Formats: sequence, structure tokens, C-alpha cells
Amino acid sequence: KDWVGYPKGLVRVTPGRWLFTAAYTKFADKYYNFKFKQSDVVVNTWPKCGTTWVQEIVWTMTNNPDLNHPMADLPVVIRSPFLEFDMLIDGHDLAASEDNPLVLGFQAVCPGKNPADGIMLQISESASDPRIIKTHLPLSLLSPSLLDTAKVVYVARNPKDVLVSYCHHSRILKMHGYMGSFEDFVQYFVDDDLLYSPYWLHVKEAWEKRHHPNMHFIFYEDLKTDVLGELNKLNTFLDTKLTEDQLNNIVKHTSYSEMKVRNVLGADINDSSIFYPDITSTDGGFFRKGETGDWKSKLTPELEAKVDSWISKNAEDIDISFKYSL
Ligand code: A3P
Repeated sequence: KDWVGYPKGLVRVTPGRWLFTAAYTKFADKYYNFKFKQSDVVVNTWPKCGTTWVQEIVWTMTNNPDLNHPMADLPVVIRSPFLEFDMLIDGHDLAASEDNPLVLGFQAVCPGKNPADGIMLQISESASDPRIIKTHLPLSLLSPSLLDTAKVVYVARNPKDVLVSYCHHSRILKMHGYMGSFEDFVQYFVDDDLLYSPYWLHVKEAWEKRHHPNMHFIFYEDLKTDVLGELNKLNTFLDTKLTEDQLNNIVKHTSYSEMKVRNVLGADINDSSIFYPDITSTDGGFFRKGETGDWKSKLTPELEAKVDSWISKNAEDIDISFKYSL
């Protein structure tokens, strides 16, 4: 009853593990067998870890280094497709409506193709090179040859800020339609009962591959502290050879304030077919705060203790350290 946005419910796939929408099973093989190219960059994250920020950074570095690309103002999802978006929109009006920008985009990019085979999946296939593909799917559910073929940028964020950001995200978007309390959401999180759970398994799979030459691991908190330094590392990893001036301009172009003003998401937070405007008008839209440490204003001492004990239990077998404040 807490979720009204998953009309066909959530399913636990690969027993005891990932929680996805029921439509995942329809597309699972296609996701697993998706053919990556050498020029692809995959932005891989658990939800709310800074995906959109890094997509915009990577897309701009690779496709728009001089900030003059004619399509730069299109929604990020059109420029940098979200591989498994079809499993999220399955059963929603969005997938069916003929005049939806996504459907129109699909018709333009994939003429003659059948939307039932996956709108975003086929946009991902047809995107122009170099493709910057977003996915929240864990590495184990993507092609085993992914890292030997394409480059992967994995973004991780401390789980307390992720939890606060994810609760907000799940409340404002009809696609999720979370109607429960914050306290219950915390419980869902620590019980690995949220879409894309378990958080820790996702991070661990990527962390294990962090030394692979085609894997670049980034922390949201490091981007917050030294974004230019992180762009310099990306410049090396992506082999983009951008100048310091270009990188500085991209830092500004992808700053929280500029991305919010440009509305990189492309959806109007007052649009009641996508959002709950009564919530976005008071609590903010997709660009909520963009800070590290905001969890302190949301987690009571009891909730913090609950999350801390979950973190200690799960962090036992991973030598990763998150920053919870800057
Ligand atoms: P908050 O909800 O804490 O504000 P994702 O893209 O993975 O869904 O992550 C969204 C989170 O990243 C949101 O966090 C959002 O505000 C933040 N974010 C988006 N663009 C950002 C930017 N340019 N700088 C800092 N944070 C950004």
C-alpha cells in the first residue's frame, strides 16, 4: 500500500537479490546481452548517487567540449539514454501516450521499430557515438564482456544521503508513488526492499572491479570537494584530451545551479502527469539540495542508530570508506 507507482509490483530476481519492477523479467535477456561498443561510456550507479551529474559531465566532455552542441539543451535522457527505463515506465501512461516526448524521440531515432520491444532500449541501441549510457543495473546483470569492451564510470555516494535523496525522489515521482512515512522508508532501505536493492551488493560488485583499466570509480563527495580534480581524472580515463579552460567551463556548465536552471531532466516539476506538484512545490524537485550531510537534518538519533548498525554489518567485507560530511 505504500507504493502506488509500481502497478505490476516489484519482483526479487536472482533469488534473494535484486528487487526490480515486474517488467524486468521481460527485458532481462536483452539487458544482459546488450551489445556494448568500444566507444561507449557506461555511467553505472545505484539510484541517487549523482548519476545525472556525472552523465552530464561525461556527455559534455565527450560530445560537447566547447559547449556549442545543438542538442545540448535536450533532456539528458535523450542525449544519454537510460538502458532499463522501459522496466520503470511499464504500465504507466508515459509508455503509451503518442505525444510524449520520449515516444516522439523514439519514433525519430528508431523509425519502423516496435515500441513494445523497448523504447529506451532501442534508443540506447541507436544513439550516436560515443554513446553515454546510464544504468542502475548491477554489473552482474550486464554483459560479462562489458568491461573488456566499453568504459564504465561508477559513481558511489554515502548511503545516508542516498537514503534521504531516494525517499524524496520516490515521493515526488508518480513512477514510484511512495505514500509511506520517512521512518518506513528507512526500514525498506535497511531491509533491502527498495527498487534496485541491495545497495551494498551493488557497490561491492563495482568496488571489486575498481582496478580494471576500463573502470573508473568516483565518489559523489569527491566531486563536491574537488570537481576540477575529478574532471582531470576523467579526462585521462576517457582520453578526451580537454584543455584546462575547457574543463573549467564544463565545471561551471555542470554545476548544481546551472543544471537546475537548464532543467537537465527536461521535466517540469509542476507537471502532474509526472510529479506530485503539491510535494515538489514544498519539498523541491529532482534538484533537491545537491549537498553532502543533509541526512543530519532528517535522521533522528534512533533512525541513525538503525542505519549505522546496517552499515557496520554490511561494510564488514568491503574496505570502502564513505564521507558522511565534508
Ligand atoms: P539530493 O536529493 O541530495 O539533492 P541521481 O542523478 O543519481 O538521481 O542523483 C540525484 C542527486 O544528485 C540529487 O541529490 C541531486 O540534487 C544531486 N545532483 C544533481 N546534479 C548535481 C550537481 N550538478 N551537483 C551536485 N549534486 C547534484
